[in-house]
Amino acid sequence: MICLTLSDSTLESAAKRVKENRDYIDICELRLDYLDESEQRKAACFPAMVDIPVILTFRRPQDGGKCGFSEKIRRAMMVSALEGDFKYVDIEEDVKRSEVEDKAREKGVRIIRSLHDFEKVPEDIFSKLYHLSEKGDIAKIAVTPRSFQDVFTLFRVEEELKGVDKIVIGMGDYGVCTRILYKKLGSMLTFASSDEVAPGQISAEQLKLEYRADQVNERTAIYGIIGNPVLHSASPMLHNRGFKGINFNAIYVPFLVDNVRSFFMFAEYVKMRGFSVTVPFKVDVLSYLGNVTREVKQIGSCNTVVRVPGMWKGINTDYYGFIKPIVNDIENGRIKNALVIGAGGASHAIVWALRNYGVKVTILNRTLSRAETIARINLCDYDSIENAGKYSGAVDLIVQTTSVGLYPDVDQNPIEGFKFTGSEIVYDIIYKPKMTKLLQEAEKAGCQLHFGSQMLLEQGKLQFEAFTGYHYPHWVDSGL
Ligand code: ATR
Repeated sequence: MICLTLSDSTLESAAKRVKENRDYIDICELRLDYLDESEQRKAACFPAMVDIPVILTFRRPQDGGKCGFSEKIRRAMMVSALEGDFKYVDIEEDVKRSEVEDKAREKGVRIIRSLHDFEKVPEDIFSKLYHLSEKGDIAKIAVTPRSFQDVFTLFRVEEELKGVDKIVIGMGDYGVCTRILYKKLGSMLTFASSDEVAPGQISAEQLKLEYRADQVNERTAIYGIIGNPVLHSASPMLHNRGFKGINFNAIYVPFLVDNVRSFFMFAEYVKMRGFSVTVPFKVDVLSYLGNVTREVKQIGSCNTVVRVPGMWKGINTDYYGFIKPIVNDIENGRIKNALVIGAGGASHAIVWALRNYGVKVTILNRTLSRAETIARINLCDYDSIENAGKYSGAVDLIVQTTSVGLYPDVDQNPIEGFKFTGSEIVYDIIYKPKMTKLLQEAEKAGCQLHFGSQMLLEQGKLQFEAFTGYHYPHWVDSGL
């Protein structure tokens, strides 16, 4: 079930939000501690105002809530609210036998026994959960993973406590994947927020429509992307839409990772079939691969990992995504020589791709030694970025691979003042914003432009093929 947490100040606005999100949710949680005091006293009316089951929750500050009353009053108000037709009531694990519990049992309201930890994942989490469930209640833990290893621990809950009714949630950025894959954790529900969401938090609409999180079952294959940061990635949208388009029982999830080793252990555990790799792990993953393609070997970085019998195989679709939009112009002779700005990981794949197609390349970089390293491996020239002006009118293609101009520093251009003649093809691999400062200036001069979003889309489509064995469905809007 997808559960919408209601943190409104009035019952009416809470009911309105349920209505707005109705297509995406199965259940909601009324947070009494967010309601105005006069509304708190009327909470018993709420279940009749909505057409889905409601959880009654009145959180204390130590559990992340805002209830300002004494414990005695809090419980009395919960008892009074239970006059309404709530299906569940949340009672914190340290609240011993209470009138709230008695009232709930008398009325057949199911008790959720909850434990919160905003700092960490407690060590003995399996036995804690078991104790919470002892009286036949639903055991709930909302804890805070501080590493990917902690996330892995949460995924093991289902195997350790099969058959126990439970709700398992990893909070914070590391926990995002547990909210999406809640069914794989054996969690009976996941909590969604509505409208305005903070980074990493997922709306009910996204959970239901983009991820189809509630459709996950035992046979659903897990794919994903590892990175740090990773939660902003557009890849989940592209792949999940593709899976849906070809009716493929799979889900693609962003995994914030701090350590590649713990991720590979996790990937084995949940029998992942493949995943994308982004900054800063494109080199780190190499030591875990049993087989790599020629591109990976020569570029020295891998952005796609797939399972093949007995091992993980690394491929690199970045180079292909980059070259696809310009390959015709290379093959028809329009592009013979290129200026590549930057000498980081992305630059390396791009220089290799261009050299692989016989284009003459000059690499410009702020740090000359990095340009020299890539130039030496790929047999090309290099120069300091300060000398960019020297190449005006002498190249057919200019590729921008640095992070200069990337959101939010959209006013920056790594080759400020460069004189475009208008005959160059200018390609910026930044995709946010689509129109970088450099591209704006190139467009003014009449240059033909290529965008980072094209590269992203093409590398993603090729990845999709590697993951599923099918072409990316042409009738699907990838969102890019
Ligand atoms: P990626 O893997 O995305 O290519 P990277 O390996 O960190 O990232 O490389 C970043 C590139 O952007 C490098 O070429 C870097 O130049 P240096 O090698 O001199 O560091 C370039 N870059 C980043 N900030 C820059 C700036 N303010 N001015 C010029 N170049 C910059």
